[in-house]
Formats: sequence, structure tokens, C-alpha cells
Amino acid sequence: MKNIKSILDPILPYIYNGVYPPSDDTYLIIDYFKKNVSENFFDGLPFTTIRNVLDMGTGTGIIALFLQEIKKYFSKFTTKIFASDISDAAIRCATINERTNNYKDNINFIKSDLFRKFPPSLQHSFDIIVFNPPYLSSISYKENDLIRRSSDSNWDGGERGFEVFLDFIKQVKDFLNSEQKYYIYYISSSSTDLNQLNDELETRGFQNRVLNKKHIFFEDIILNRLEEL
Ligand SMILES: C[S@@+](CC[C@H](N)C(=O)[O-])C[C@H]1O[C@@H](n2cnc3c(N)ncnc32)[C@H](O)[C@@H]1O
Repeated sequence: MKNIKSILDPILPYIYNGVYPPSDDTYLIIDYFKKNVSENFFDGLPFTTIRNVLDMGTGTGIIALFLQEIKKYFSKFTTKIFASDISDAAIRCATINERTNNYKDNINFIKSDLFRKFPPSLQHSFDIIVFNPPYLSSISYKENDLIRRSSDSNWDGGERGFEVFLDFIKQVKDFLNSEQKYYIYYISSSSTDLNQLNDELETRGFQNRVLNKKHIFFEDIILNRLEEL
């Protein structure tokens, strides 16, 4: 049986100024896929049932490129790969990285604030969505004074740290293929109120499963998987 662990990570020579460089959170996702994609199954979902996969907030494009590597490796994984970002620089950078990895025009790039610019033809079409969102809070307190940090779409998740992610959650159901089992993989941080986030996810009909975590500096970064409750 083929062993996916031998797939190399994509070559990423271009990391534009202002584009999120692949980091521990990125590799938490990639390493999970390395362990949980096998000859015919993507984390338990049969390849044959996976039509469209989306890498939301693609940054350098590394996750979308890794998904392309899986396609190259397993010929039965014939899914279409989409990658999206709010940042022009990220879309440019990811497009160059796609070419450098010899996948010209294989990934469908969409510049969009979450799903706002997605064509209606993609509604109810995604079987897997991956989102490593900005997940830190834009505010902090020093001696009871509220400090608003300068904002950056790479890390600023809003006041509670998960407003961008909750906005995504509000929109995502229109784009998931709910005719069958789907998965959403995302990263969260222990520096935010995860009980509050989980309550919001449950209210919206999602079941959250923690897949892995890693302690870095002041927080745990957590890889989660959502499915229908
Ligand atoms: C933490 S980085 C992750 C980048 C890359 N996926 C990775 O794992 O290395 C978050 C990415 O989400 C993008 N982003 C932030 N807000 C967004 C939004 N509203 N819509 C789409 N992308 C967004 C940022 O531009 C950034 O590229």
C-alpha cells in the first residue's frame, strides 16, 4: 500500500511581504492529512465521494498545493481544488507557488472576503473545507486599559479572536454539500474563549472534534474538525 508520509511538502520559494508564512498551525493541518489519508480514503471519506475541496484563507497556497500533491499521488483522488483569500498579495503569491510546483491552472483561485464573491454555481458543492483563520484577539488589556492592536488579516480574528471564523460559519452552510458527510478542518487558539466558540458552533448545528494540538509560547493551537451535529 502507498504511504502518504513519503509525499514531500510543496516547494515554496515565494513568500510575499505581508503573506502569512507557513507556520506551526499550517503544519498541524498538513501533518494530520499525512497521517489520515490512505489509498482510497480521506480521513474516512471515500475519495469517490469528494467532488470539491476548498482551502479558505490560502495564504501562500501551501495547503491547496499539498492537496494537489495528494491528487498526484493517489490517482483515485480526482477532486477539484479551490483556494481563496481576501488578500490580493496572497492570491498572487499562491498563484506563483502553484506554477513553481508545476501545477499551473490546476487550482481554482478566488479572491474573496469569505464566500462573498463565490459564484452561485459553487453553492452546496464542497465536501471538505480547510480554514486556518486569523484566530487571535485584536484587543488586549494593560492595567485595565483596553489596547487595540494594529490589525492584520493574517492573525486578527476580531475582538474575541473568532469573529472572522464565526462569520465564515454563518456563510458556510450554503456552500457545503449537505447531501452527504462533509468535514470542515480549522485551527483555534486556547488564548480565546473556546467554550463560547463551541456553544456558537453547536447552536449552528455543528459537532466539534479536537484532532490535535500543539503548545507554542503563550497558547495551545488546536486542530479541529466540524461535521453535522
Ligand atoms: C493564519 S493565515 C493562514 C494561511 C495559510 N492557509 C496557512 O495555513 O499557512 C490566515 C489567512 O486567512 C486570510 N483571511 C483573513 N480574513 C479572511 C477573509 N475574510 N476571507 C478570506 N481570507 C481571509 C488571510 O489573508 C490569511 O492568508
